[in-house]
Amino acid sequence: MNYEFCSKNTKELEADFELCFVQDKKLSTYKGDKGFFELMNYKGEGTCLDASKKRLFIELKSLAYEDIRLAFANAYKVLSKLNVKSVKTPSVIGDCVVTSFCALVQGFEFAAYEFDQYKGEKKPKKLAKILISPQELNGKKFSISDANLGLKTGQIISNATNFAKNIVNEIPNTYTPLKMAEDALNLAKADKNIKCKVYDERFLEKEKMNAFLAVNRASQHPPRLIHLSYKPKNSKQCVVFVGKGLTYDSGGLSLKPADYMLTMKADKSGAAAAMGIIKAASELELPFEIHSILGATENMIGGNAFKPDDVLISREGVSIEVRNTDAEGRLVLADCLSYAQDLKPDLLIDMATLTGACVVGLGEYTSGIMGVNESLQNDFYEASKTSGEYGCILHFNPYLKELIKSNIADLSNTGSSRYGGALTAGLFLERFIRKEFKDKWLHLDIAGPAYVEKPWGYTSFGASGAGVRLCLAYLMSLARKEK
Ligand code: BES
Ligand code: ZN
Ligand code: ZN
Repeated sequence: MNYEFCSKNTKELEADFELCFVQDKKLSTYKGDKGFFELMNYKGEGTCLDASKKRLFIELKSLAYEDIRLAFANAYKVLSKLNVKSVKTPSVIGDCVVTSFCALVQGFEFAAYEFDQYKGEKKPKKLAKILISPQELNGKKFSISDANLGLKTGQIISNATNFAKNIVNEIPNTYTPLKMAEDALNLAKADKNIKCKVYDERFLEKEKMNAFLAVNRASQHPPRLIHLSYKPKNSKQCVVFVGKGLTYDSGGLSLKPADYMLTMKADKSGAAAAMGIIKAASELELPFEIHSILGATENMIGGNAFKPDDVLISREGVSIEVRNTDAEGRLVLADCLSYAQDLKPDLLIDMATLTGACVVGLGEYTSGIMGVNESLQNDFYEASKTSGEYGCILHFNPYLKELIKSNIADLSNTGSSRYGGALTAGLFLERFIRKEFKDKWLHLDIAGPAYVEKPWGYTSFGASGAGVRLCLAYLMSLARKEK
């Protein structure tokens, strides 16, 4: 969609339709329309279409960014059913001008997103032009440059999120670790500031990444370690993202029941998010050196599959007793986190659809934020609040740590209790973080929100791009602090 910040009032702008916002259900704002609202039985909730005057009334619940996103998304949903090509709207501004315009774009772009790659009949997207008038809904004054910066930022973040969604939505018959590597190489090809290196199984062997390799053993598709980097000249910190890239998780020999296997194409969501983040970081010209390390493999069954009872020696030298081959993400991440620490990060963030327990605990809308540095977790949580993603800090404790002890190795890959699975998985990863990086590390379990089976808000069916906006919000807050 094309967003144009204009110099004219809404009245003077030429467009197929006009957006009219209703705040606090106060219809009195539109004085001359009382009779129309009565006729339509419209009380200020949801949307109301006035076809004769080509206006769409939309409820704006508050000026919170999420409500701004929702209002524009709801407008798009109604108008996209018509043959409307252009729409005009007043400016809608909450606390921050840039973030408000960013929210406007996200509302439109996310409502318009659809994965229709495999549909014979594709719905044409007609609404292409959004004209924004400088008239602000509540009479606020603001600078045009902030508005334009918001529109640009919104487009970059929405594109990166939808880019991640496309990767996750792709199907396991074609989307293999090799395909992920190809996507990463293409990302670097399209953006001269991003570099990409792809490492094959021989490299993993040489690097003694035996935990990663074990997960791959029964797969017909070879694994790949993908390393994307973005190094701006004005870099202030080195931030490394590590993403779980299970292009399919059948559970391995600890096979998943049929119902639970469905949607496991989405087990590559952490890697997809790490790709989206580096794409946006480069386009936003963030002043940080950024690396995205993706551990790409399938977890399959076969005669050569790794087994419950195996003991694996990881790249960090920590031995792991395999008690369940379905707890494979932590094995891949253990070796990828080891590789990532060699880059000497100032901040190390891993993202993974790691545990069903996190979904049980926090629900389908919220990611778990874990780590050992409480102030880093708090800062991250604070920054995330306006991002449009939900996060919740889960706290470790020493008793939980007892649950991943093994009788025969340094560590067990599952907790010995039925409870606390998200945290024991987080604590498993913590064992692979060297002392000097403990305070710099964050673990995000995105298993809940990564894949949407019941659409909510402006989030459509399928992948959500979880992690992308969450981490970008933190990086942008960090950039503001560094200024
Ligand atoms: N990929 C799954 C976790 C998952 C579950 C993601 C549901 C998204 C939705 C992960 O590899 C897994 O299977 N974890 C196991 C761990 C257990 C065996 C300790 C789980 O959560 O059941
Ligand atoms: Zn699994
Ligand atoms: Zn998994």
